[in-house]
Amino acid sequence: MKSPLTVLALLPIQCLAQYSLVRDYSGSGFFDEWNFFGNADNLTSGDLFYLDRSAAASQKLAFVNDAGNAVVRVDNFTNVALNDKRNSIRVESKDLYDIGSLWIIDTV
Ligand SMILES: *[C@@H]1O[C@H](CO)[C@@H](O)[C@H](O)[C@H]1NC(C)=O
Ligand SMILES: *[C@@H]1O[C@H](CO)[C@@H](O)[C@H](O)[C@H]1NC(C)=O
Repeated sequence: MKSPLTVLALLPIQCLAQYSLVRDYSGSGFFDEWNFFGNADNLTSGDLFYLDRSAAASQKLAFVNDAGNAVVRVDNFTNVALNDKRNSIRVESKDLYDIGSLWIIDTV
């Protein structure tokens, strides 16, 4: 016969057992698993143009640095004319994930 305490102690172990690593986005291959939007912002009507992968790499807005960290940033080094759009990055994972998936992100 189980006591209530035993049931409570087992519950976290059962939850942990349901997760397994399905994808690790890191290192030099970080950007291989994402689709770059490559078009003007059409969600917020913002003054942004989201670059495709090759333009993002050549403008140093999406790259993996010498430490192996993925860097994603907005253009802060060009003057943008009024009514023009500033370059930025929007990516979506190539993989789709079920509701209830757990993401762990290490970011600064
Ligand atoms: C934004 O543009 C993308 C690519 O052209 C398109 O797939 C998407 O449906 C558009 N979203 C909206 C809200 O217009
Ligand atoms: C743009 O951002 C980078 C990275 O944060 C920074 O080193 C640089 O000083 C910024 N340039 C300007 C013009 O703000």
